[in-house]
Amino acid sequence: MAAKELVFSGVQPTGNLHLGNYLGAIVNFVRLQHTHTCIYCVVDMHAITVWQDPAELTRNIREVTAAFIAAGIDPKKHVVFNQSQVAEHAELAWVFNCVARLGWLNRMTQFKEKAGKDRENASVGLYAYPNLMAADILVYRATHVPVGEDQKQHLELARDIAQKFNNDFSDSIRAHGLAEKFFPLPEPLITGPATRVMSLRDGSKKMSKSDPSDYSRINLTDDADAIAQKIRKAKTDPEPLPGEEKGLAGRPEAENLVGIYAALSGRTKADVLREFGGGQFSQFKATLVDLAVDKLGPIGAEMKKLTQDAAYVDAVLADGADRARVIAAETMNAVKDIVGFIRKR
Ligand code: TYM
Repeated sequence: MAAKELVFSGVQPTGNLHLGNYLGAIVNFVRLQHTHTCIYCVVDMHAITVWQDPAELTRNIREVTAAFIAAGIDPKKHVVFNQSQVAEHAELAWVFNCVARLGWLNRMTQFKEKAGKDRENASVGLYAYPNLMAADILVYRATHVPVGEDQKQHLELARDIAQKFNNDFSDSIRAHGLAEKFFPLPEPLITGPATRVMSLRDGSKKMSKSDPSDYSRINLTDDADAIAQKIRKAKTDPEPLPGEEKGLAGRPEAENLVGIYAALSGRTKADVLREFGGGQFSQFKATLVDLAVDKLGPIGAEMKKLTQDAAYVDAVLADGADRARVIAAETMNAVKDIVGFIRKR
């Protein structure tokens, strides 16, 4: 590992943590622990950009923390915390509100999707969301950000903000004797065969926490029966599975299930198709059920156990926040100097 590489990523505590979150993001969080120093954040301040029932939000913060730990993230070796415990995220986000341009935010497709037709009624927080996300990453001067495909545009914005800050304040950065590239340009890590897991009911739609149909997703807390039922009912097409990856073109449901199988088994899609090509979906689905229950069952069970021990989970978050704050405060002090604010020394 290069000395200064640092991994940061976040997950919103908005309920229904699903297979897309797991395969697109959390699996990679776990893997990166072996090569990098990692900071993993439950982004509760992002969650309230749309209405959250307070008691449910508290439960969901603990549930995402439990998912991190159950999936294999070690909160002693790495940092696990919830965003609202480190005030520097909000402080830096304000500075970034003044760096980012309206035109940049107007291009964000996720805002357009989430705000829907009634854009006038969306919260200001939902609009400024990508600036807070940039602050999450850059308050630690993190260099690598494992995310699913849907976060790519937000990562590009974070890079634009870092670059503009470095340019706008270049004289001040130099005058304070700081490294010229004060903020690194964070790199998205969008890796693995399941960077965009699709709905089990409709291969053209992303698997999502907010889909009204529970059959569209596999929740990390689903038991074996639910997992089996959802996979058996998953939409497919009438053709047998192709023998090669190019045969998946124009077959989004087949591509999705093969991607899920590949990601869960740590294999490539090509490899999976070499084994199952020419076979019927019924047989493939039965094997996928066994694999999914085998991999996800223990995670769901551990999550349930952990969420019953709120005191333990809260202690993990408090300890992580204490360690995160040390790094964040150092960056924020430097930012205040760079911008020209006066601070107590
Ligand atoms: P969130 O909470 O929506 O999702 C958490 C992670 O899961 C990935 N993901 C998916 N991957 C594959 N297929 C899917 N269907 C799928 N659905 C979700 C997401 O890409 C994400 O990696 N804005 C972020 C949270 C965030 C963040 C950050 C991430 C806030 N600050 C700083 C990285 C760095 C979000 O809403 O993720």
